[in-house]
Amino acid sequence: MILFQYVRWKNLLSTGDVWTEINFIKSKSTLIVGENGAGKSTILDAVCFGLFGKPFRKINKPQLVNSINRKGMLIELEFKIGNRQYLIRRGQKPSVFEILQDGNVINQNSEAREYQDYLESNILKLNFKSFQQIVILGSASFTPFMQLPASHRREIIEDLLDIQIFSTMNSLLKDKVTINRTSLYEVDYGIKGAAEKIELYKKHIESLKQNNDEIVAQKELQKAGFNDQINQANTRIGSIQNEIEQLSNSINDHEKVQTRSEKLATLSRQLEGKLDKIKKDLDFFQRSDDCPTCRQGIAHEHKIGIVEKNTTQVSEIESGKEKVIFEMESINSRLAEISNVTSQISTLNREATDLNIQVRMLNTSISSIEKEINGLMTNNKQIDTNTEELKVLKDQLRASLEMKQQLTEEKAVLEVASVLLKDSGVKTKIIKQYIPVINKLVNKYLAAMDFFVAFELNENFEETIKSRHRDDFSYESFSEGEKMRIDLALLFTWRAVSKLRNSASTNLLIMDEVFDSSLDNNGTEEFLKIIGTLTTDTNLFIISHKGDTLFDKFHSLIKFEKHKNFSRISK
Ligand SMILES: Nc1ncnc2c1ncn2[C@@H]1O[C@H](COP(=O)(O)OP(=O)(O)OP(=O)(O)O)[C@@H](O)[C@H]1O
Ligand SMILES: [Mg+2]
Repeated sequence: MILFQYVRWKNLLSTGDVWTEINFIKSKSTLIVGENGAGKSTILDAVCFGLFGKPFRKINKPQLVNSINRKGMLIELEFKIGNRQYLIRRGQKPSVFEILQDGNVINQNSEAREYQDYLESNILKLNFKSFQQIVILGSASFTPFMQLPASHRREIIEDLLDIQIFSTMNSLLKDKVTINRTSLYEVDYGIKGAAEKIELYKKHIESLKQNNDEIVAQKELQKAGFNDQINQANTRIGSIQNEIEQLSNSINDHEKVQTRSEKLATLSRQLEGKLDKIKKDLDFFQRSDDCPTCRQGIAHEHKIGIVEKNTTQVSEIESGKEKVIFEMESINSRLAEISNVTSQISTLNREATDLNIQVRMLNTSISSIEKEINGLMTNNKQIDTNTEELKVLKDQLRASLEMKQQLTEEKAVLEVASVLLKDSGVKTKIIKQYIPVINKLVNKYLAAMDFFVAFELNENFEETIKSRHRDDFSYESFSEGEKMRIDLALLFTWRAVSKLRNSASTNLLIMDEVFDSSLDNNGTEEFLKIIGTLTTDTNLFIISHKGDTLFDKFHSLIKFEKHKNFSRISK
């Protein structure tokens, strides 16, 4: 409960550089009168500016400063909440904003905006909209509750019941829901991506493995084939060497036979020469009797002797020659054999040389195949790195899945919280509890004004009003005076509910020409009657031009006037 005590102001609107002060608690009811422009409604701006930092009328803050003095606008508002005494001091030119609690300035190093938030939510616990519904009602800005749209009705009732915290929680929750949804989406996206990548890696590794194994096997086969060929060639070379050895052994008399052949040829030539000479001699002796040198006759015996001797020699030589020729024939046939073997040997040698070349070439091929196989083995390294990366991806996927699990659980919790915090949730539960109380109070106040209708507000804040004849009426069906009674009944109901909830409850009620137009003489009487009975702990201020009729019904009177262009309270 806020107990408003004083408001004072200067250089505000038409007020000059002297304090104008209103004591709120001096009197139960006060009538405020004065001509148009005298400065009555200025009270509303003073209170609003003091509490909320904004004027009551729809002008901006600089427009509040008195246009003659142009500076030093200042407002002081004093009130008590519980045992604590507060003073708010607020001004323009220079700009001032101070809150004093029991005489001490409350820490002011925050921004003005935060300081104002602190004042509204921690000290006053009421907001501007509700304030205009239940504390200060101005003819220009006051819209009766019944003429407000459902969303505004809800806002005011939530404020009165002090359950706006659930709306705040709900809007915080909405942020959380959005974050949760976005995170879930991102995690899902990550999971999908990781799963696809894992598939790709698996396939890649598999194909690497398959290719490698196949090619290596092929190469090994090729290598084995080459080795076979080398072995075959080597075997062949071995047998060629054996053959050559055997053949060489079979002609190891080659030199001897050759020498013999040459010797025989020489011998044959020598025998031929000897034979020629002996034949010549023989021929001479057979044909001549004289010595060709000494021209003496040759003795006949001697001659016969020589012929005989020579003939024997010829036959001896010829028989020798025959032997030589015979041997030469056998030697020549051996030489022919040897030459045949020699040519066989060189054929074999050529074959062996060819085979050796082939072996060298095969060895070269084998080493190049081995190099290729080694290269393919390094592919295995690639497989290893890919396998490593695959493992990392799998870990990531597992972490993402865990995250998703967590987020999904959180989502379920948030969904439950959403249901609870929705308008139809906890708030409706609380509102439902209060609706019968509200209806009871409204009908009580209506009855007190001798207005007998059955008023009912449902949990969506829609009204049904049944008149005496049990017809369904809506608010708009009623006359201005009847509407006023409903409006007043609601006004007092809100104030009573505030008191029940200990929220937004105050002693102050200011009405600025609010019901002036709808008050006939009868209505005015009733208005005052009801106000008299219902405002026991209220300090009521009525600004009205109907001063003449109302004058004697109030405990006090304040009269505003303009003096030399400045407004003041007349003595
Ligand atoms: N910045 C300003 N400086 C000086 N005077 C101002 C300034 N702004 C408004 N005014 C004047 O101050 C007066 C404000 O008076 P206020 O609204 O309090 O009158 P009122 O007594 O409520 O009159 P009404 O009965 O017509 O509602 C008006 O005459 C208005 O023209
Ligand atoms: Mg006015």
